[in-house]
Amino acid sequence: MTTLFSINFNKIALLRNSRGRDYPSVQSFARRAVELGVGGLTLHPRPDQRHARYSDVFDLKALCLEFPGTELNIEGYPTSKFLDIVIEAQADQCTLVPDAPDQITSDHGWDIQKNGDMLKPIIKRLQREGIRVSLFMDPDPEQIELVKSTGTDRIELYTEEYADSFHTDQCKPVLEKYEKAATHAHSLGLGVNAGHDLNLENLARFLTIDGIKEVSIGHAVIVESLLMGFDNVVRQYLEIVKQKG
Ligand code: PXP
Repeated sequence: MTTLFSINFNKIALLRNSRGRDYPSVQSFARRAVELGVGGLTLHPRPDQRHARYSDVFDLKALCLEFPGTELNIEGYPTSKFLDIVIEAQADQCTLVPDAPDQITSDHGWDIQKNGDMLKPIIKRLQREGIRVSLFMDPDPEQIELVKSTGTDRIELYTEEYADSFHTDQCKPVLEKYEKAATHAHSLGLGVNAGHDLNLENLARFLTIDGIKEVSIGHAVIVESLLMGFDNVVRQYLEIVKQKG
């Protein structure tokens, strides 16, 4: 099974927003990525639109229509405005994330005990619109057991702990925890995505876990591109996911 590499374009949007013009253009970078063979485009529009704007969602949707097979993944907290945008744009996948509006970045998965009842009708609504749903989750066995009851199609494992452990002797046990979580989710019939703090150095080892359907990577793609150039970095990611497939 090949893992889909989805680039999160929020950091390009952040750079663009720091000046008044459409430069760098999110759509141009996304187009370049697709031309290089990237199969997934991700945005995480927050309510204050400080990175990705809602208009970016429609721009990337247009690009996906131009390049059939390219998937649009929209992440975020399910406010009614967010859900309306995801549905209007007909995203391929919506990754629901429990982040507060002012949070710098996502830093924990859903607590299904607390939020399961709130999520169920939202997941149903998105699925009725033909949108696949993924829930951002910690690799916590109790939470993974509960997540199936929400009706979600997939989970996205929050990989910061793995990334933090990468250069330590904790990497092996931490990776085993993620592997167990993925195996557990698979046994419940759920697809498994992964994301957060993945990079060119740590991705291949994470993908020793079988059956990861998609990785969504943003911050590192941009930092690595400053050092090595966007095309070069994108090609290296594609090589890593291809070797896995
Ligand atoms: N997945 C989710 C749910 C996120 O919120 C983010 C960051 O926006 C990512 C993946 C990508 O993380 P990173 O930018 O560290 O690659």
